Amino acid sequence: MILILLGAPGAGKGTQAERLVTEYGLVQLSTGEMLRSEVKSGSELGQKAKEIMESGQLVPDDLIIKMISVRISQESDAEGIILDGFPRTTEQAKALDIMLKEKDLRINHVIQLEVNEEEIVERLSGRFSCTDCGMGYHEKFSAPANKGICDKCKSTNFTRRSDDSPKTLRNRLSAYKEQTALILPYYSTKGCLKSIDGMAEMDIVFDEIKKVIDGD
Ligand code: AP5
Repeated sequence: MILILLGAPGAGKGTQAERLVTEYGLVQLSTGEMLRSEVKSGSELGQKAKEIMESGQLVPDDLIIKMISVRISQESDAEGIILDGFPRTTEQAKALDIMLKEKDLRINHVIQLEVNEEEIVERLSGRFSCTDCGMGYHEKFSAPANKGICDKCKSTNFTRRSDDSPKTLRNRLSAYKEQTALILPYYSTKGCLKSIDGMAEMDIVFDEIKKVIDGD
């Protein structure tokens, strides 16, 4: 199964993808996570992407397409793949179609999580994660059970994403509106787009996504 999670920054793509991995045994491919790990390693791609990500712009299509195409090939035996944060432009969407066709795969669902800007700002200003295992949290909506201790690995080290700063977030939101939202009609025309209210509680959003998948 190929499932695409679409939505503005902070819409809940990563949160829901983590749950879907556990529930259905799918593999999550997050282009944002891949890029952050390239930046951390100091690779050539990471060096090219660093400044662009820090400014909140989109990394050029050719770099992204090359990076994700390798990963999709590596996961071709997986039960299914969740694409989190890809595609983000019409060119990426078209390249994905070609990649999948070559592997005899098809997109089963494109799920758009709809969230308003006020909520996005609240979510991203309160977001943090465990430095050691990467588990995601939110100060108000999903804090660790014991303050300052990671639920998953018991680490006491937490970090915030540098691109969650107000200025960068404004650019990320513009990039979403001006480039990514344009691919919604592309999938709507193909008949595989489903919009879900991403403003609802996480469990409710998850149930709605499961309904889409299970109704396949
Ligand atoms: P990326 O890492 O993909 O960031 P993003 O799309 O901006 O998405 P986020 O990870 O910020 O949000 P999310 O929707 O996953 O929300 P989350 O679940 O964490 O990309 C980063 C950068 O990399 C881009 O700006 C770009 O430069 C580059 N890039 C990546 N892919 C690219 C591509 N394909 N092409 C070009 N460039 C690319 O939730 C957010 C917070 O809200 C969390 O704290 C969570 O706990 C909370 N939350 C989630 N759901 C709910 C809920 N229902 N109710 C209350 N709180 C909730």
